[in-house]
Amino acid sequence: MVAVRVEQLCTDPELYIIRVDDDRIKYFEATWEIPEGITYNSYLMKLDGAVVLFDASKGEYTDIFLDALRKIVDPKEITHIIVHHTEPDHSGALPKLLEENGHRAQIIGTQFARNLLQGFYGDEVVKNFKVVKDGEELSIGGKTFRFITVPWLHWPDTMITYVVEDRLIFSCDAGGGYGIPEAIDDSDEKVVEEYLPHVTKYIVTVIGHYHKYIVQNIKKLKGLGIVEEAKMILPGHGLAWCKNPKRIFEFYEAVGAGVPEKDKVLVIYDSMYGFVEKRMEIVLDELKKLGKKPVVYRFTDKEAPAVSDILGEVPSAEALVIGASTYEAEIHPRVRYTLYEILDKANYEKPVLIVGAFGWGGVAGKKIETLISRSKFDLVDTVESRGRPTEEDERRLREAVRKLVAWAS
Ligand code: FEO
Repeated sequence: MVAVRVEQLCTDPELYIIRVDDDRIKYFEATWEIPEGITYNSYLMKLDGAVVLFDASKGEYTDIFLDALRKIVDPKEITHIIVHHTEPDHSGALPKLLEENGHRAQIIGTQFARNLLQGFYGDEVVKNFKVVKDGEELSIGGKTFRFITVPWLHWPDTMITYVVEDRLIFSCDAGGGYGIPEAIDDSDEKVVEEYLPHVTKYIVTVIGHYHKYIVQNIKKLKGLGIVEEAKMILPGHGLAWCKNPKRIFEFYEAVGAGVPEKDKVLVIYDSMYGFVEKRMEIVLDELKKLGKKPVVYRFTDKEAPAVSDILGEVPSAEALVIGASTYEAEIHPRVRYTLYEILDKANYEKPVLIVGAFGWGGVAGKKIETLISRSKFDLVDTVESRGRPTEEDERRLREAVRKLVAWAS
């Protein structure tokens, strides 16, 4: 049974989080492996003459979400529902919620959000919809609600809300992460440290395709002065940021920009019968001699790491080594898929070394070169040869690793 946590975040204003802890999910967006699970966060604020709900929850958890909501408010009393983003992990519970609310609440969102909600759930859901524009302010319950669009964080419909008097940012996907943290907020550093790698994985897999917009949008919010002065940043997934709110947006900015961790080299390869593996032993030995800290993901007949985990490693890598067997005149299928996703979701200006092994014809190296040449990554070298590595192969591999390291420095 999926758990729902309801906690009061502050008394003035009276603010609650309703957090659905989804530990049953296996593949977010039917694609990304997340054994760590995910939470869907909704927030409720009670004001003078107004009750405001910030986002809803995922459709399949509508009943438990509504049960939890009823503990703090009669859904009929909700006067406003702010829809920051319409992806159904936040909007799926809306139709039933509105039914229970008697369609009294005004829904607030962008024009894009209105169109998407109408497409997903029909006309009934948008009959009391108020479209807001970037920077527009509304007075609700004696507070000033400012709406700021942050397109492509995660969809073109997306906006955040800034409650001016209380300096609260409700940010939906922006600032979110995978995982089900044991705490509600960021007050325990140990919880935060365990959580942040899930944030990187979330950013790359979910928003990575649009990662330049992460940097642009956070720059926009910083320019408005609201990140510096925010008392809380309250995302739609994962931890609420109450102790050090700007930390999460600065973290997002660093991931969006692909800021590397010193000496981290990401090494990804397949090895069917050990020929690529032998080459990688040489590569890893040379990397370590040069003081680098390789992080290795390998596909063999005994292991197949989650591509979502590999993607989460790319932004903080200084450099990448991609090793592949030639397989039916192609790149080995597991590396091919991984590479395809890296180039789509984690396309950064970082140096890459390609290492290949083949039986009767080397194709993988050339095909990877072509893909890399069309991306933002920089091709440093390709070392590809037949069968077991010779002494000459070893010399070339060590030299190529030195070139890679020099490039990354
Ligand atoms: Fe959490 Fe893009 O929805």
